[in-house]
Amino acid sequence: MADELLVRLQSRLDALPDGLQAHIYRVRDVALELAVSHGIEPARAELGALAHDVCRAVPGEELLKMSAELGLDVSDVEADFPLLLHGPVGAGLLERDDGLSDHSLYEAVRWHSTSHASLDPLGKLVFLADKLDPQKAAVYPYQAKLHDMARESLDVALLEFLSREMALRLERGETVHPASVDARNSLVLKLRS
Ligand SMILES: [Fe+2]
Ligand SMILES: [Fe+2]
Repeated sequence: MADELLVRLQSRLDALPDGLQAHIYRVRDVALELAVSHGIEPARAELGALAHDVCRAVPGEELLKMSAELGLDVSDVEADFPLLLHGPVGAGLLERDDGLSDHSLYEAVRWHSTSHASLDPLGKLVFLADKLDPQKAAVYPYQAKLHDMARESLDVALLEFLSREMALRLERGETVHPASVDARNSLVLKLRS
């Protein structure tokens, strides 16, 4: 039940470090703004934003343990950088313990770090709202442009973000999560047609 989920989620949020809570509420504000632009139910956009980082403060070692407990597959890229598991573990925990039964919300939380080819508009919105936290402007110098794009088209903005970040990672010789590659390919093909 959504109300029960909200109560449980709120108690998880209250226990998070202050800086992380502040990030989550800024993401909520961006998510609500984008929800209006795209005709997405504000309550679901808000819930996705509030839920996305419930496990962001969990250390990598612990995320690996929790992934095993939750029966989540851990890829080589994730084993090398377990922080990537905070979305999947967060979604799994909310589903197992807190009554998260909405598949679209589950996916939005699960894939908010890497994106995924199957993300629906709500998932794309939560993904982008996370990157559009005004405090991340230094990390993403093109953030203002990305925000304008996101108001117009979630697909165009998501493709822009994935292309830019992937190019950077390739340039630095870093890994690229397979889900990000698939997500970008699907957007290239969708937007080309
Ligand atoms: Fe996150
Ligand atoms: Fe976040």
